[in-house]
Amino acid sequence: MTKKKLRYGMVGGGPGAFIGEVHRRAAKFDGKNILVAGSFSSDYDKTLAKGEELGLEEKRLYKTYEEMAARESELKEGIDFVSITTPNHTHFKIARAFLTRGISVVCDKPVTTSSAEAEELLELAEKHRALFCVTYTYSGYPMVKEAKELVENGELGDIRVIMGEYPQEWLAERAEMGDNRQASWRTNPAEAGISNCMGDIGSHIEHTTSYITGCEISQLSANLNTFVEGRILDDNGQVMIKYKNGATGMFWASQVAIGNDNGLKVRVFGSKGSLEWEQENPNYLHFTKLNEATKILSRGHDYLGPAAKKNTRIPSGHPEGYFEAFANIYNNFSQALLEKKEKGKVKEEDFDYPKLEEGYRGVKFVEKCVESSNNGSSWLDF
Ligand SMILES: NC(=O)c1ccc[n+]([C@@H]2O[C@H](COP(=O)([O-])OP(=O)(O)OC[C@H]3O[C@@H](n4cnc5c(N)ncnc54)[C@H](O)[C@@H]3O)[C@@H](O)[C@H]2O)c1
Repeated sequence: MTKKKLRYGMVGGGPGAFIGEVHRRAAKFDGKNILVAGSFSSDYDKTLAKGEELGLEEKRLYKTYEEMAARESELKEGIDFVSITTPNHTHFKIARAFLTRGISVVCDKPVTTSSAEAEELLELAEKHRALFCVTYTYSGYPMVKEAKELVENGELGDIRVIMGEYPQEWLAERAEMGDNRQASWRTNPAEAGISNCMGDIGSHIEHTTSYITGCEISQLSANLNTFVEGRILDDNGQVMIKYKNGATGMFWASQVAIGNDNGLKVRVFGSKGSLEWEQENPNYLHFTKLNEATKILSRGHDYLGPAAKKNTRIPSGHPEGYFEAFANIYNNFSQALLEKKEKGKVKEEDFDYPKLEEGYRGVKFVEKCVESSNNGSSWLDF
């Protein structure tokens, strides 16, 4: 555990919220970050209640994120970064408020609701020399890092076929009509943006497959569906992909796939071998070389590469999961920010956390899927 700590604030993550609490636990995991400020809800009473529960000083609980950005940037011991864990439509304005004051950002995905906004954030982050991390959770798993390393080391040969699926069942009925607030904003275009399903979980497939393979999309054709009556945005979608290196891919994201919880699964096939990883069984990676029996690689073993080893905490067979993967993202980001604080600059590419460029690409992916689907699944250049 490092002695040096970063101070951070959070926007979102109020009472009953989902991902804010995951961020708080992940940020704390490796002892590098302390939560000192928050605007946890647009309802100030809820911010006060959450702040008290978390033991924060009342003077650092803010009515709005604007007030928090302005005040914290003036304090001598103000926050080093902010974590944005609010619904999609708010990310851009919140990130902009902190970036323009030189405060680094951790933001959940999709990073914005339009690629133009993401481009503006890219410019601001560069201008104000701030770091920006987008929490694409699945890239934090040790066995996903092992998969990436196997591809980089040429163990699979030339990548030919990339298959990604993320089936869920939770929106097979109109859950948004009840008091399920996560369903309510995700299906509302004013809060989710132009897509529900492809933006919420298709974006994870795009990021995880890109992270593992390094393959760049050259063209895509998408077919998005809205199966549940009365819903405006998509709740299912398939995408065909052509990659610049000649590989081909197919993604399926669904919230109406009855029988599935969070079934993210990625398969990659190359000229010499293949691999397969599932997020509901994340400690194992299936790896097959041509004409050989399939190996099941297990997290925590000496035979794994340095990235998987570095991002692991406990021995094999004691399962690590979602919190640890999220914590790996925070740990790597915090290391970069601590180095920047100490030396005045840092080479971001030396640190393994999802950058704003990846967030921008993810938003562009969603936009292209919607555009293609609205145009009879036409093939679009990426
Ligand atoms: N990385 C992942 O795997 C992952 C998983 C779930 C959600 N997410 C993303 O996280 C974000 C939040 O999703 P969620 O499911 O936690 O939503 P949620 O509805 O559970 O929580 C959102 C929180 O933001 C607060 N909020 C809204 N507007 C605010 C404002 N202006 N100021 C302060 N607080 C405000 C709400 O009061 C609530 O506490 C979304 O962008 C979503 O896509 C990412």
